[in-house]
Amino acid sequence: MVQSMPDVSPPKWHIAHVSWFFEAFILKPFHPSYQTLDPAYDYLFNSYYETHGTPFPRPDRGMISRPTVDDVYRYRAHIDRAMAELLSDPPQEHLPEILRRLELGLPHEQQHQELLFMDIKHILAQNPLCPAYRNDLTPPPARDMGELGWHAYPAGVRHIGHDQAEKSFAYDNEMGRHRQFVEAFQIADRPVTNGEFLAFMKAGGTTHLTTGYRMVGRRSRQKAGRHHSTGSSGMKSGITISWAAWCRST
Ligand SMILES: [Fe+2]
Repeated sequence: MVQSMPDVSPPKWHIAHVSWFFEAFILKPFHPSYQTLDPAYDYLFNSYYETHGTPFPRPDRGMISRPTVDDVYRYRAHIDRAMAELLSDPPQEHLPEILRRLELGLPHEQQHQELLFMDIKHILAQNPLCPAYRNDLTPPPARDMGELGWHAYPAGVRHIGHDQAEKSFAYDNEMGRHRQFVEAFQIADRPVTNGEFLAFMKAGGTTHLTTGYRMVGRRSRQKAGRHHSTGSSGMKSGITISWAAWCRST
């Protein structure tokens, strides 16, 4: 239940919250005989769904010492069971909506798995004993990555946003496909090592840690660099990740 800063959620909260999503948006409206374990969980484990009610303040999530971790795992098992029941015999008239919400609930949980990992790493990093998230990993063998190359892209109009013709999943904030003028840029032809990244920063590079991955803009003496950032929702700034894409203006 440790919360190391306001932007971090306790691991216990993540586990409860991703379960709560299925309860609030699928089981309560569509399971004909669903009984919640505790009505108070709806308030504790809502995040930002203001249309669903007033969420519990995020910076205080670490104060929720009750329900306990065991209670949260019981809550999760309860929801798993109810979801299995519902999906084994779904009300046919609501099936399209149930499937739509189910498809949203799964990437939502996937997104929280990324957050969970980052938050655990941040929590462990506060501990002067330097506990490792895993200590069974061996460093990969050193290999010659070869000279860094660059792919060049000319300036021009690009399409940005999810292409609904693909019929694959996207969050609503990825929709609204539109055209956008993009300046000419170059992007590295392979992931960079941490050493290459540090050398780049020492040489006066600038970085944007974006919502999905880190991109580096190169500033030249002639012209200021430009950042082109993109990425998936779910990651947040302030967390260092171990790979980066490099991007520089031309
Ligand atoms: Fe969430």
